[in-house]
Amino acid sequence: MAPRKLAAGNWKMNGDRAALAQIDALAAAQPAPGCDVLICPPATLIQPMAARAAGTSIAVGGQDCHASAAGAHTGDISAAMLREAGASHVILGHSERRADHGETDAGVAAKAAAAHAAGLIAIICLGETEAQRDAGETLAVIGAQLAGSLPPGAGAANTVIAYEPVWAIGTGRTPGIDQIAEVHRFLRAGLQGRVKDAADMALLYGGSVKPGNAAEIFAIADVDGALVGGASLKAEDFGGIIAAL
Ligand code: G3P
Repeated sequence: MAPRKLAAGNWKMNGDRAALAQIDALAAAQPAPGCDVLICPPATLIQPMAARAAGTSIAVGGQDCHASAAGAHTGDISAAMLREAGASHVILGHSERRADHGETDAGVAAKAAAAHAAGLIAIICLGETEAQRDAGETLAVIGAQLAGSLPPGAGAANTVIAYEPVWAIGTGRTPGIDQIAEVHRFLRAGLQGRVKDAADMALLYGGSVKPGNAAEIFAIADVDGALVGGASLKAEDFGGIIAAL
């Protein structure tokens, strides 16, 4: 069974209730069979977005969760809370959280385990910095992040991997086709032996995906979709990416 394709939008700290109108525009553009569409808005918009998306094929996700089920963690949100608000997925270990909040691979693995326990699909993000790529360390960095961030029990049904080179995020720069292919091939191989259904796990590419480059990126072997930032904020752009799946 091939992985399902996924176009996932990460709104980051953008959007308000007025922006939920995008759901109506996107709902009109049905994804192709075997393709899923997900939007991960700020936590305050998960519940109203899920309500607006009810009855459509659009899924809603969070951008982070705590590793604990409940407790004295001011400002945090649990996986079960996301689930109750209507989320089916949660992005974990995004490089912005790794940089801004000091998230480690072990911490990401713990969060992913909590997400799984709550019935959420964890989208685990990995990616090298520009300095690491220039130093020829890309595969070593990705390999270590994959080994450290995957929790026990991860499989194709509850986990998606997103390769997001840090230097490609929000910059308009993307790796070459061969560079994306190399990392995705490496990820697929790295999953063998770690999860029982490595061939079925969706591997997303993220970093400056636009309607204009989506088809070319989606044609790469072992690329099963995209995690999209800026271009997910406009229904027209995200719709173009969905159409390329
Ligand atoms: O999580 C998606 C993101 O980091 C990529 O952002 O704006 O380069 O598509 P962008």
